[in-house]
Amino acid sequence: MRKFYSVVLLSVMLLGMLTACSGGMDAENTDEGVTLRLAHNQNEKHPVHKSLVEFSELVKEKTNGQVKIKLYPNGQLGSEREVIELTQTGAVDIAKVSASALESFEEVYSIFSVPYLFDNKEHYYKVMDSGIAKEIYQSTKDIGFIGLTWYDAGSRNFYTKNTPIMKPEDLNGLKIRVQPSQTVIRMVELMGGAPTPMAYGEVYTAIQQGVIDGAENNVTALTNSKHGEVAKHFSFDEHSFVPDTLIMNLSKWDKLSDEQKKAVTEAAKESTEYHKKVWAKAVKHSIEKAKKMGVHFYYPEKEPFQIAVKPLHEKFAKQPSTAEYYKRIRGMAKDK
Ligand code: GCU
Repeated sequence: MRKFYSVVLLSVMLLGMLTACSGGMDAENTDEGVTLRLAHNQNEKHPVHKSLVEFSELVKEKTNGQVKIKLYPNGQLGSEREVIELTQTGAVDIAKVSASALESFEEVYSIFSVPYLFDNKEHYYKVMDSGIAKEIYQSTKDIGFIGLTWYDAGSRNFYTKNTPIMKPEDLNGLKIRVQPSQTVIRMVELMGGAPTPMAYGEVYTAIQQGVIDGAENNVTALTNSKHGEVAKHFSFDEHSFVPDTLIMNLSKWDKLSDEQKKAVTEAAKESTEYHKKVWAKAVKHSIEKAKKMGVHFYYPEKEPFQIAVKPLHEKFAKQPSTAEYYKRIRGMAKDK
């Protein structure tokens, strides 16, 4: 509860700060056009940042400079939860956040955190490039924002300070940092670990100080966020593919002209394609770099992990908010 209050307080403080420095935190509308603020939590070397730079260049080009995007990387405007709140109010115009972080704002996003929902990368790409993702992007209109596109954030895997995770039992008693997502919390519980929700920016120190035993993420966490300095065992159990999502404040979107909306939509889609290439290279590079940092990689058998999380599949196939999407997504797996 204390944590909840501090998040609210921080948001209010941030809003106050931003309002003070910009004379009202409205996107800057001038004769030269509009500048939109885009927040995210990775550093400038991260592939997602590169793809967001590509997105902003494309937007500028396609609108003849009438719409500009200013990037705020490194979580400087807050954690993912906080920037989603700021995007709702319009203090931030656009944010790149994990679909897992969106779950507590709109339940339908929880589907992306279901472990082993996607059979493989091809299945994941097929669903994310389909009408399903587009429908989900519209599901948050009543809470003040929409989705524009997605970026590949790879497979998520367990990594720990001391013990390699080769089977679910290896998680017994281990405190594992998770995103603020009930689905991911349940996943770790079902596998036998002790889930500890925490903002991404706090993970490095929490592992280093032994507050947690490990976390789960893609390989760039080891290198770009330097987690490989403090966690030396990374197991490719590939329990999920959770997309990064680009969201935009609805009233800022509504203020754009039809041509500008078209330009932003096209730019978003093109940057997603660009990102697929950048991502593949970054994953390879991160693995090589992490090995040099002394990280050991493991390839456990996936079946025991899949069996452990079956109750989550049963739940998602049944509950009204996700049953339809669950069926459609599973129906797009190749072996169906
Ligand atoms: C991924 C994702 C981030 C997210 C992070 C996390 O790296 O791309 O958007 O913040 O996971 O685990 O919190």
